[in-house]
Amino acid sequence: MFDVDQVVHLNGRLVALGEASVPVLDRGFIYGDGVYEVVPVYVREPFRLPQHLARLAHSLAGVRMDNPHSDAQWEAIIRELISRQPFADQAVYLQITRGVARRDHSFPKGVAPTVFMMANPLPLPPREQVEHGVAVVTAVDNRWHRCDLKTTSLVGNVLLRQLATDAGAAETMLFRDGYLTEASASNVLVVRGGTVVVPPKDHHILPGITYDATIEFARAVGVPVVTRPVPQAEALAADELWLSSSTKEVLAITRVDGKAFGGGTPGPVFRKVWASFQRHKPQAR
Ligand code: PDD
Repeated sequence: MFDVDQVVHLNGRLVALGEASVPVLDRGFIYGDGVYEVVPVYVREPFRLPQHLARLAHSLAGVRMDNPHSDAQWEAIIRELISRQPFADQAVYLQITRGVARRDHSFPKGVAPTVFMMANPLPLPPREQVEHGVAVVTAVDNRWHRCDLKTTSLVGNVLLRQLATDAGAAETMLFRDGYLTEASASNVLVVRGGTVVVPPKDHHILPGITYDATIEFARAVGVPVVTRPVPQAEALAADELWLSSSTKEVLAITRVDGKAFGGGTPGPVFRKVWASFQRHKPQAR
């Protein structure tokens, strides 16, 4: 299930996962009142850490919590945690909640935040998913209007992801008011006529670090990218659809709602940009 001896970070201390516990009155448990990040780590080197820390600061400010650490302190404790794991490629999960207090919706006063971090093996997609793509289902995006904040209140995303799992698919692609937003735990990129089209980073999508990296690595190999709202009908009639996230990198969507999409196989633009991604990410030395 999980390794009770795994070294995790809780409130400034490294402890065994089996020993790490949080009081039941933690507002993360009671309200989902917290924010989180997932940072991919290749050969013990965090990928785009400054960008992840900047997004963490944005999420904290968005929920009106103080940042408990400077970026330099975050980097030091993240690297310490990474160095304590037996595997080289990792997904560092960190979460900060508004702390432990008597249950009352209003912010408690003078309460220290809870800081938890763990580093798990990086679950990159199997070769078969890279080569053949993945299935998605579609759904109406019924989450709140601050999807730009990476909060631990994820029941909306959880219910949407389960629609995919129930259908044997990898993700649920979401549409709000007739426009593409993202997927339950990934961003979605669209290809039309050789151009990558991406929805703007507004309050309705998480500003994905991998979304930015994919755009950069596409441009690096001469693939044009434009940012604009993507109507649902246009997305579903696109040449290619991709998912991006820290744990998926970039993957082609080859089935939508049980039907083959884009010929049922990853398209040529995907192949080119996936190869560019592999060349640009930190490599084993
Ligand atoms: N999910 N959109 C949502 C709703 C997400 O939860 C994620 C990431 C992304 C992609 O962001 P990034 O490229 O920075 O990973 C987009 C993480 C991996 C998770 O919750 O496990």
